[in-house]
Amino acid sequence: MKISFGTITITKESRKLISGILRAGRVSQGRYVRELEERFAALVGVKEAVAVSTGTDADILALAVLYDFGAKRQDEVIVPALSFVATGNAVLHAGFKPVFVDVKKDTLNINPHKIEEAITKKTRAIMPVHLMGKPAEMDTINAIARKYKLYVIEDAAEAHGALYKGRKVGSLSDMGAFSLYVAHIITTIEGGIITTDNIKFAEVLRSLRSHGRACKCRVCVLNTKSSYCPRRFKFGKKTDIRFIFERIGFSSKMNELEAAIGLGNMSIYKKILDKRRANLYYLMDKFDRFYPEIFTFKKEVYEEIGPHAFPVILGKKCAFSRNELADYLSKKGIDSRQLFSSMPTQCLGFKFLGYKKGQFPQAEYLGDHGLHIGVHQDMGRKECDYFLKTVESFLTKKN
Ligand SMILES: Cc1ncc(COP(=O)(O)O)c(C=O)c1O
Repeated sequence: MKISFGTITITKESRKLISGILRAGRVSQGRYVRELEERFAALVGVKEAVAVSTGTDADILALAVLYDFGAKRQDEVIVPALSFVATGNAVLHAGFKPVFVDVKKDTLNINPHKIEEAITKKTRAIMPVHLMGKPAEMDTINAIARKYKLYVIEDAAEAHGALYKGRKVGSLSDMGAFSLYVAHIITTIEGGIITTDNIKFAEVLRSLRSHGRACKCRVCVLNTKSSYCPRRFKFGKKTDIRFIFERIGFSSKMNELEAAIGLGNMSIYKKILDKRRANLYYLMDKFDRFYPEIFTFKKEVYEEIGPHAFPVILGKKCAFSRNELADYLSKKGIDSRQLFSSMPTQCLGFKFLGYKKGQFPQAEYLGDHGLHIGVHQDMGRKECDYFLKTVESFLTKKN
């Protein structure tokens, strides 16, 4: 049997849309990107969504918005030590300094009780990550943010469909940044999207994704039949709004073909989500028998986990390494990924920040002892049982 890490469902609706887009030749960001934004905003329950090229860009642009609202370059942003490296990279690419806080081993998420000690005069924002779709402890994080007047941006890349106390992640803070990369529940192949209830943030985001232009329209007329823009010379005959660059921007638009893939996915979203969640919760339920040798995370009564993947963590006393387990799974046809790394102390690129090994014991432990496998919609009970049996046979061999 083969169990891939991810999958993609390209629906009939997407294929039809793609043919139409190619026939019309209107391929760059236009009405379909806008439709995706509107439907995604409705799904998360927020006023606005702004689509961009990648989930990393969603993180970067959400952070860069803060320069319009009082932040200065080189101000600090608090992030969990453990995440996919994109979270830390995004803070640096946006021009801020990442300040790392250790995670909790049982939730994989930032330890909110360690946040206050990391706050300085330069702190502007906290960026919790809902790792593996498990919501971060947002009530405590938001309370700290209110106390110190900080922005909160959720890195919700992996958390499509996650619920925290009845509310959707991506709607719990100033902005939510999602990845629409192929491994995620709603995918545009490559892509990202930022959700917010703040219309002003959304306007700045639309400017940022297009080089910092002064244009703020939700769909540019250039991408419609008319293509006449009544606003173009509104600022005087010599000034073209498209060539007024109000802020340092990025080139980060989504195109119509990508949006078409995403729209097809959105139409079957509930089906994909239910299938993946059934796989995840089934595996979580059956995994207790391997404790304490290996274990996974737990679900709180007030949350629903966004079923991105299934994390596996080695216990302290087990007699094998994470890579031995990953290698065994791979030989049996089961693809896995490591459970990321402590960015400041296990990712070489962050060495210049001067952190020392041992500063983030929980994140480092997970970086050395964790892996995750897919729970995607092309898997079912048969694949889950095969994975469980394979783990069991590995443990029997090792004991
Ligand atoms: C937590 C987290 N943040 C950011 C990203 C970046 O997303 P992308 O790969 O779409 O750039 C990812 C990737 O999936 C991620 O897992």
